[in-house]
Amino acid sequence: MGVRIQPSILAADFVNLEREVARLTRADQVHVDVMDNHFVPNLTFGPQMVERLQAVSPVPLDVHLMIDDPDRWAPGYAELGAFSVTFHAEAAADPVALARALRQRGSRAALALKPGTAVEPYLELLPEFDQVLVMTVEPGFGGQSFMPEVLPKLGALRAAAMRHGLDVWLQVDGGIAADTIEAAAAAGADTFVAGSAVFGAEDLDAAIAGLREAAERANGAADPASA
Ligand code: DX5
Ligand code: ZN
Repeated sequence: MGVRIQPSILAADFVNLEREVARLTRADQVHVDVMDNHFVPNLTFGPQMVERLQAVSPVPLDVHLMIDDPDRWAPGYAELGAFSVTFHAEAAADPVALARALRQRGSRAALALKPGTAVEPYLELLPEFDQVLVMTVEPGFGGQSFMPEVLPKLGALRAAAMRHGLDVWLQVDGGIAADTIEAAAAAGADTFVAGSAVFGAEDLDAAIAGLREAAERANGAADPASA
């Protein structure tokens, strides 16, 4: 199973974003947090900024929409060419129709679940999604503590993905660092967002490599095929 490391630019210097994303050549994708001050109590940026980031980023963008009414707004991010667009289950009126609209526009379609949101209603819908994001903090801010109690959702998703024969990426976001990534990987995650753990490091390449090694180690240990 491949492992992906996605630094979150929420922890970067916002007045130097071009320079900051240029430092992420060793990342698999760059995670971009769009917040609207309604779905979450914080505000970042919108499609114009995402379009410019995409033009200067050395790797593709994984756009995490923490916004109300994604049914209306998310397709625009796919139209501007984002590699992947994630919307929240709690905010979408029709998650399946929206996922189809994103795929039709050429993006990967991803569904996010807040810590308090159950995964079960979505397990049978898994073929509609390319990625599921299990939030490991309450969305809205970087630098919060990892919530291990949400990890059983990853096991349920991994089992459903195997049942459906799907290569769906299972992503975690919030509090991912050297001391938490192994638990998330062992629980079934393969795609890891890290904000403060990457941008708080002196050497970003080394921080990304360290997270990748820890996740691969834990993933290998959890994967019966490699035993
Ligand atoms: C939080 C955002 C995260 C955030 C993670 O709502 O979705 O992507 O940047 O930051 P850290 O890794 O610092 O918890
Ligand atoms: Zn995020």
